[in-house]
Amino acid sequence: MRYGHFDDANREYVINTPETPLPWINYLGSESYFGLISNTAGGYSFYKDARLRRLTRYRYNNAPLDSGGRYIYLRDNNASSDSARVWSPSWMPARTPLDFYECRHGMGYTLIRSKLNGIEAQTKYFVPMGENLEIWELTLSNKHDTVADVSVFSAIEFNLWDAMDDSTNFQRNYSIGQVEVVDDVIYHKTEYRERRDHFAYFACSEKLTGFDTQRESFLGSYRGWDHPKVVEAGESSNSIAFGWQPIGSHHIRVQLKAGEQKKIIFVLGYHENPKDAKFDPPESQIINKRTVLPIISKYLKPAEVDKAFEGLRSHWTNLLNKFQVNTPDEHTDRMVNIWNAYQTMITFNMSRSASYFESGIGRGMGFRDSNQDLLGFVHLIPERARERILDLASTQLETGGAYHQYQPLTKRGNNDVGSGFNDDPLWLVLAVAAYVKETGDFSILKELVPYDNKPGSEEALYGHLVRSIQYTLDRLGPNQLPLIGRADWNDCLNLNCFSDSPGQSFQTTTNKDGKVAESVFIAGLFVLAAKEMAELTKQVESQKSTHDLASQPSKYYLDAASSMEATVWKAGWDGEWFRRAYDDFGHVLGSKENEEGRIFIEPQGICVMADLGVEDGRAQKALDSVDVHLATPHGVVLQQPAFSKYYLHLGEISSYPPGYKENAGIFCHTNPWIMIAEAKLGRGDKAHDYYLRINPSAREGIGDLHRCEPYVYAQMIAGKDAATHGEAKNSWLTGTAAWNYVAITQWILGVRPTYEGLQVAPVVPAGWDSFEVLREFRGVRYSIKVERSGAGNQVKLEVNGKAIDGNIIPLPTDGSKEVRARILLS
Ligand code: BGC
Ligand code: NOJ
Repeated sequence: MRYGHFDDANREYVINTPETPLPWINYLGSESYFGLISNTAGGYSFYKDARLRRLTRYRYNNAPLDSGGRYIYLRDNNASSDSARVWSPSWMPARTPLDFYECRHGMGYTLIRSKLNGIEAQTKYFVPMGENLEIWELTLSNKHDTVADVSVFSAIEFNLWDAMDDSTNFQRNYSIGQVEVVDDVIYHKTEYRERRDHFAYFACSEKLTGFDTQRESFLGSYRGWDHPKVVEAGESSNSIAFGWQPIGSHHIRVQLKAGEQKKIIFVLGYHENPKDAKFDPPESQIINKRTVLPIISKYLKPAEVDKAFEGLRSHWTNLLNKFQVNTPDEHTDRMVNIWNAYQTMITFNMSRSASYFESGIGRGMGFRDSNQDLLGFVHLIPERARERILDLASTQLETGGAYHQYQPLTKRGNNDVGSGFNDDPLWLVLAVAAYVKETGDFSILKELVPYDNKPGSEEALYGHLVRSIQYTLDRLGPNQLPLIGRADWNDCLNLNCFSDSPGQSFQTTTNKDGKVAESVFIAGLFVLAAKEMAELTKQVESQKSTHDLASQPSKYYLDAASSMEATVWKAGWDGEWFRRAYDDFGHVLGSKENEEGRIFIEPQGICVMADLGVEDGRAQKALDSVDVHLATPHGVVLQQPAFSKYYLHLGEISSYPPGYKENAGIFCHTNPWIMIAEAKLGRGDKAHDYYLRINPSAREGIGDLHRCEPYVYAQMIAGKDAATHGEAKNSWLTGTAAWNYVAITQWILGVRPTYEGLQVAPVVPAGWDSFEVLREFRGVRYSIKVERSGAGNQVKLEVNGKAIDGNIIPLPTDGSKEVRARILLS
């Protein structure tokens, strides 16, 4: 069943029932102020850090699941029947049945429209570019032929800033809540009296009939948000919160003539004052509003709101125009042109912090995650990618290892989680190479970057990469394969953990000295990274401004790659596929010798991506084994057979019931590795077939089974061993976004940046006659038209009408900003 449809022209997903299988959400904001918003206006907002600067309260894992949000209630003061008198135009929280409902999630905004009792309501929620506030623009239209008398109530619940503390420390929190209500603006100023320099405000464009700031005065005791006492009575209680739970609610009473329309604007925002100018008058406890009032009054004007919305629209149009495709497949087009690119930007903003599956109080920014995310968005925001790389590298340790996570607010490595995930440093090499290929900016390699943020330890970024590579070489095990440490990409393969007590973290509990367990996955990743390093070093050596950076010749890294490759063939090849690991007892995992966990997806993907066995047929064997043992109609599962019980020596992977998460779930992050591997073998039909199996748009028709949003990737789809095979979980914040984007754009459509220019090497389905790509690359617009004259992947290239050898479109030397390329595939 479908719960909506795509409106590609407007870059929106249109949901036509509020009762989606799960809340289907969107994100507001892309700089410092952010919000999550569901299709029924659920969600919350925060400034920069979802844990430490939470503006509004949200209760995770609640019943109903999606509780708390940007709520509006309407009360038809003329209605005769009680049941229809009060409703929420976003359906939640009142859940009064509506005559019409529609939610449009767009790029950085959400629009909810509904109709009841002849009153049409449309609310547009968005965050203007450059501002720390969100706008709710409510448009009411009276479709009656008589005058309508409507009471509008807004409602949010303030969070007392630190979301973790807010949900635990009630003995204090119930006494600290403070607000001000001045000139119809509600200010939330809990803790402003002492150490905070920030407050929140909630304003409305209309003269208020009343307001509330104390939750229970608004709801009434023993009532929920579905049925507030104040709304039922049609009268606010003008409450001022002293402790307990401060909220913000405006009441506006409007008379609408037949056919009349009215806009009401609400502005919810975050504001900081200088520490020495917090109060006005200075010796008082009253918020100094001098700098905030101009902002508030600006955005209460409809013309300014329209302007800000146009600004947001053009921001996204400009961003997404950097890569547009037109192919025979609508799911490819819509994901590449709109939603997949959008999701990579959301992962840039959020990392793994705040979604409907990540509470915003848990994880910091992952070193491994952020480096991979960058592969997806580097062409959209190269300057911010540069900054991200430098932040990440500053948390690297002198050993070449890395803190597994860092905190975005402090940009410091997280000591609780620590380091020792032995794949981590290698991802930095891939991220930096991708950045330099995209931008041609070699200067980043010379940036002086500290280790562990310690002043005095600075070294050129290139030196960090040298240490990343060396880190693996310094940590080889009994088979000369890389030691796995706490875990490699698979956080749940904890071969040194041996955890038998509840509550221990699988990732950080280490009960073995870690000198035996080895990872074939890291070996494959190492070959890939060392080859990238060799290529980068060749460039570094050849450029005047960088040649003195290279401490080792490029050949050093090629040799390291080949020697690791030889080791993989010796200890990591099982005959039909690549093995996964060796455990702490030196026993193999991911081999025909195993009863459970005989074959894993990750080494098949990464080793073939590193070109292992591509020439001699072994890569093909490995991928054919993937097809036979791991592929399902819903995607490729992580391993088989699933672990039927907990194996102390394997760790978290075997803690999940079969078919879920890392225990044989379809872990979508890894599927694009197989797509890329298939493309390496030239098998376009297979690569694209795998692409479509997990493509959310292609799964739209099975919404009842898939359940998550059909416009973004989820981390996992339940595998074939699960009771709910095909059910997705953990949408939005996943490396799946970046890797699918890379797989489809760079390896299937085949348009990829290289140091020399834009390479075009499509490996598309045989049935595709032609497709077009518009790609901005180093400030030049490339229009690329690919046509088929045969079923293979041979490329004949013409640039601006002239035939060129090879498949790389060179950068224009005459300063032109437009290049046309035609490719004949045969
Ligand atoms: C999850 C992994 C995740 C890890 C992060 C585990 O419980 O299954 O997917 O990477 O937690 O700490
Ligand atoms: C999610 C984590 O964010 C990522 O770092 C890890 O690679 C995967 N889970 C697999 O365990």
